[in-house]
Amino acid sequence: MAKIILCGFMGSGKTTIGRELSKNLKIPFFDLDSEIEKRFGKDIDKIFQDNGENLFRKIEKDVLLEFLEKKKDFVLAVGGGAIIDTESLNRVLKNSIPVLLDGRPEVFYERIKGDRKRPLLHSLHDFVLLFEQRKHIYMKIPLKINAERPLHNIVSDIMWILKRREFHNPQKIILQVGISFSLVNKEFDFLIIDENVYKIYKERFKIKNKYIVSGGERAKNLDEVSDIYEALLNSGVEKDGKVAGVGGGVISDISGFVSSTYMRGVNLYLVPTTFLSQVDSSIGGKNGVNLSSGKNLVGTFYLPGYTYIDPLFLWTLPGREIISGLGEVFKYGILSENGIFEMLERAYKFDFMTILKFIYPAILEKIKWIKNDMFDRKGERVFLNLGHTVGHMVERIIGFGNLTHGEAVAFGILVSAYISNRSKILKDSDFERIMFLYKKLDFHVKKFAPILNFKEDDLIKTLLLDKKTNSRKLTLVLPKRIGEVFLKRDFQPELLTKFLLEFLRDFKEEI
Ligand SMILES: NC(=O)c1ccc[n+]([C@@H]2O[C@H](COP(=O)([O-])OP(=O)(O)OC[C@H]3O[C@@H](n4cnc5c(N)ncnc54)[C@H](O)[C@@H]3O)[C@@H](O)[C@H]2O)c1
Repeated sequence: MAKIILCGFMGSGKTTIGRELSKNLKIPFFDLDSEIEKRFGKDIDKIFQDNGENLFRKIEKDVLLEFLEKKKDFVLAVGGGAIIDTESLNRVLKNSIPVLLDGRPEVFYERIKGDRKRPLLHSLHDFVLLFEQRKHIYMKIPLKINAERPLHNIVSDIMWILKRREFHNPQKIILQVGISFSLVNKEFDFLIIDENVYKIYKERFKIKNKYIVSGGERAKNLDEVSDIYEALLNSGVEKDGKVAGVGGGVISDISGFVSSTYMRGVNLYLVPTTFLSQVDSSIGGKNGVNLSSGKNLVGTFYLPGYTYIDPLFLWTLPGREIISGLGEVFKYGILSENGIFEMLERAYKFDFMTILKFIYPAILEKIKWIKNDMFDRKGERVFLNLGHTVGHMVERIIGFGNLTHGEAVAFGILVSAYISNRSKILKDSDFERIMFLYKKLDFHVKKFAPILNFKEDDLIKTLLLDKKTNSRKLTLVLPKRIGEVFLKRDFQPELLTKFLLEFLRDFKEEI
């Protein structure tokens, strides 16, 4: 299991909920205040009176850090004061699964106003003031549960979040909050790891031999691949070697390609750390690297032994990368009737707790399209290309690094919807819903306005670069309605370019 730290203000129910949670998870429960009282033979009130708050906070910190370091699996209830200290908070974030019991101070005050054992509590005014002072600390906890509700709702919500979900067909995937903590015990022979991820998370992996990839999309090329082969050779990785790719889609693509070709195939494990890679690129075994003439032109199909998906990684992901992942989720919402589009429409905001809920249905959706067409031969997997023909073209034109993959795909989806609507297939009402959601997800058409400065011939050439056949005709995936797509074969690149420019002229001011 894991180290679960229940944080929250006085009256948020940490002890009651902690006990219940420990029963459900079958791991011991501790309360930090009670542990301190046990050790010092005095209650908290007395420690405060005799030794003052400063000494109390020092003792509290020592006991908390000892728990994190020495104990294995537990639920620990911790007051807000214990994580004011930056080191304590960072250690909690790095070494445990913190869960915040969230709510309004007025509600929590009502629960405990008669309790004489609370040293910092004098009146509602003081209570609210203290709460306000600690709010910025609580905001740093990723998992937030509304603790104003009945106990059973809170516990079942936490259990839902912590639930381990496994997928076995066509690929072994474990999706679990906190699964990455167990990776420190896994014996990988070699790590291919994203530079930013390495800086933040190096403690989560037992790293002997590694290759750090920097530069994002620009690193997805054969020179980098060749450098990784050399590093593998120098580290003595052999045919039965275990290689783990840790990072976003760039890493899953590079490590998939390297692992499938080095020594004609070594064992691959994936640890996706971006939203986009957790919902898409780490699933399905497709990998690819870029050539100067186009994206993903060299690649293989190669399934990892295991893919470990830990949503906690997303807490450190920049907001723009979260939106990028939403671009692929947007695609799943249009592909079939799976409720994802409506979930996106209903979402009030796309904070950590909201995006967490999209990972499981998105994985199910991706598996649905790939499992009977692993090698992209039967014409099922091709539907996942919705938005990608235009997406890859604009990535090249606007420039890798200026656009995220998800931004390009979401724009491509909008152009596909426009073509389908102009061709009188997609109803106006569905086109409007797609446009509205695109805006709500914080994507912007105006970002693509520079395309209007290009000559049509150049756009067509770029469009054809992405093609993996000699024919000049394109196969497009277009939405018939929200929840159904169809293939339009033999589409002329000139026509697609005409639609693209027309769309940009119509909407570049609006979105
Ligand atoms: N093979 C497939 O099936 C498939 C499917 C979709 C996309 N892709 C490919 O995936 C790539 C895009 O993937 P991506 O969007 O994950 O981009 P990415 O791998 O470049 O990662 C985006 C950024 O996030 C940073 N990052 C990663 N994890 C982090 C974390 N937990 N905290 C902080 N920063 C973190 C990275 O350093 C990078 O700057 C593209 O090359 C695309 O072609 C492949």
